[in-house]
Amino acid sequence: MADAGEFGELLRQRWRRGTLREIYIKGNDRVTKRYLVPGSIRRYPEPWICEHRALEKLGEGFPASFGYRARETGEGELEVVFQRAYVEGEPVSGISDDELELLADLMMRIHLRGVIVNDAAIQNFVRDSKGRLHVIDFGKALFGKPGTLLFHALVGKEFAKLHNEVLNENESRYRCFLERYSSLMQLSSYSSGWIELCRRIATLARKTRRSLRR
Ligand SMILES: Nc1ncnc2c1ncn2[C@@H]1O[C@H](COP(=O)(O)OP(=O)(O)OP(=O)(O)O)[C@@H](O)[C@H]1O
Ligand SMILES: [Mg+2]
Repeated sequence: MADAGEFGELLRQRWRRGTLREIYIKGNDRVTKRYLVPGSIRRYPEPWICEHRALEKLGEGFPASFGYRARETGEGELEVVFQRAYVEGEPVSGISDDELELLADLMMRIHLRGVIVNDAAIQNFVRDSKGRLHVIDFGKALFGKPGTLLFHALVGKEFAKLHNEVLNENESRYRCFLERYSSLMQLSSYSSGWIELCRRIATLARKTRRSLRR
């Protein structure tokens, strides 16, 4: 087992799909995410790779990744320690109308670098003391070439979650966000329409999945 003391204060510890996930914060400087994956789980999605790759691709203007290291424990588990820069700020409970532009700007800067958050849930955003918004979890990120049909389809899926979980399905606020995003990305009406079609299909798929689970 790793010596957790070196990672700072334990913020959260939980089990998910048989895997232990811990989050440590050290001096408002560094976040450590530690994963303990049992040998019996062969196909773990490896969020540390997604997050490290996303932060590397985002580069300037985004928090740094300090990389990850993996080792097998004596009990046949895989222990992974991933470290990244801490984002000082407060959890976001809702986005005000005035912040829709900031949100569009943030998504534009992420997407222009070929990164899709793929988990645009409200608990994955932080607001800093200057009022800027940040995404703090790229553990499910996807990558692609901005401007392509496939990339725009993934943006549509991204916005289905954002529409539902960040903008509470408020249509007029979502329209305002999408208009701002389309203008910042200089999207043609064809591209915006394609994103919107994919967003609607992804929303339908989300709702169908949910109702089937009930
Ligand atoms: N870089 C960071 N800066 C500040 N706080 C962070 C950072 N990374 C993680 N946190 C804190 O840890 C919490 C969980 O982090 P993260 O979202 O990466 O883990 P998670 O396992 O995906 O949890 P969840 O399922 O709640 O999203 C965040 O809500 C935040 O409070
Ligand atoms: Mg998260």
